[in-house]
Amino acid sequence: MTSGLAEGRVVVVTGAGRGLGRAHALAFAAEGAKVVVNDLGVGLDGGTAGATGGATDGATDEGAAGRGSSPAEQVVAEIRAAGGEAIAHGGDIATSAGAESLIAAAVDTFGRIDTLVNNAGFLRDRMLVNLDEDDWDAVMRVHLKGHFLPLKHAAAWWRAEAKTGREVVARVVNTSSGAGLLGSVGQGNYSAAKAGILGLTLVAAAEMGRYGVSVNAIAPAARTRMTEHTFADMMATPEEGGFDAMAPENVSPLVVWLGSDASEGVTGRVFEVEAGRITIMDGWRPGPTVDRGARWTPSEAGDATLKLLALSQPPLPAYGAR
Ligand SMILES: NC(=O)c1ccc[n+]([C@@H]2O[C@H](COP(=O)([O-])OP(=O)(O)OC[C@H]3O[C@@H](n4cnc5c(N)ncnc54)[C@H](O)[C@@H]3O)[C@@H](O)[C@H]2O)c1
Repeated sequence: MTSGLAEGRVVVVTGAGRGLGRAHALAFAAEGAKVVVNDLGVGLDGGTAGATGGATDGATDEGAAGRGSSPAEQVVAEIRAAGGEAIAHGGDIATSAGAESLIAAAVDTFGRIDTLVNNAGFLRDRMLVNLDEDDWDAVMRVHLKGHFLPLKHAAAWWRAEAKTGREVVARVVNTSSGAGLLGSVGQGNYSAAKAGILGLTLVAAAEMGRYGVSVNAIAPAARTRMTEHTFADMMATPEEGGFDAMAPENVSPLVVWLGSDASEGVTGRVFEVEAGRITIMDGWRPGPTVDRGARWTPSEAGDATLKLLALSQPPLPAYGAR
C-alpha cells in the first residue's frame, strides 16, 4: 500500500502528540520509519491548562508507551495498532536535558537517528505594546531554542558517526510559519521566533552538509487547535466527500519526502505547504542597487533610496495588516 519511502529510518518528531506533528509521525510510520513521538502535553499557551494527559520526563519505556493517556503515548498506540514501531518521549525539547534525552531515546531504542522533525511549539499572541516579557521569552524559548537544542544534539551524533567513517544520510525538517516569512499582526514574538528558525535553517544547512545532513524548513498551514478558532472560516471542514484541504495530513507528505533519503541534494530551502499546494519560498536576495563609490550625504542617500524603491517590488503585507 505504501512506497516505504522512509523504510528503516529512525525519525524523531517533536510536539507529535497532536496536530501537525501527530500527522507527520503517523505518515513516517506508514512509510516504514521507526518513530520517536515527543510531546510535553502542554496547553495551547504552553501552560498546563487545556493539556491532555500528563507529561513524563525523558523517554517512556516500551511497556508504558501506548497504555498511558499522554498525547505522545496515544500516537504511539495508533502507530503500533497499525503495525508500526514507535516510542513516546515526554520531555521538554527546549531544555538541554529534554533535547539530549530525546536524541538518546532514539539511539538507545533503535540504534540510531536519521531524521529530526522540529515541530513543537505554542502561542502567546498579543499586540507588541501589550506583550509581556514572559510571553516574549516563552515563545522564543519553545520555538527557537526548541529547534536549536534537538538540532545540536542530533548534529553531535551525526558528526561522531561521520568521524568513524560511517555514511550519514541525515535529514532535518524545521517548522517556520507564514508569520516568520511575512510577519503577522499580534504575533510579534512568534513571528520573530519563526523568522529566527529560517536563519537557523540556513546556517545548519551550510555547516552540516559536510557530514551528510540536509536541513530544510516548512511554513505549513492546517487545521489544528492552534488555528481552528482564530482562522475558523479558512479552516472549516468541507462537505462530506470533498477534499479536506486544511487537514494536517496534507502537510506531512512533503515532510516525509524531505525526511527521507530521496530528497538528496535538497538543503537550505524553505517550502510553504498547505492543502494540495507546495510553494518554494525564495529568500532575501539583492533588489535594485546603486553604488556611487564614495560616501553619501544623508539627503543624497535618501534621494538615491527613493529611486531604488520606485524600481523595486513592494513587499507582501504582513498577515492581518490593513
Ligand atoms: N497549524 C498551522 O496552521 C500552523 C501554521 C504555521 C506554523 N505552524 C507550526 O506548526 C507546529 C505545530 O503546530 P500545530 O498547529 O500542530 O499545534 P498543536 O498545538 O496542535 O501541536 C503542538 C504540540 O507541541 C507540543 N509542545 C509544546 N511545547 C512543547 C515542548 N516544550 N516540548 C515538547 N512538546 C511541546 C504541544 O503539547 C502540542 O501537542 C508549530 O511549530 C506551529 O507554530 C502551524
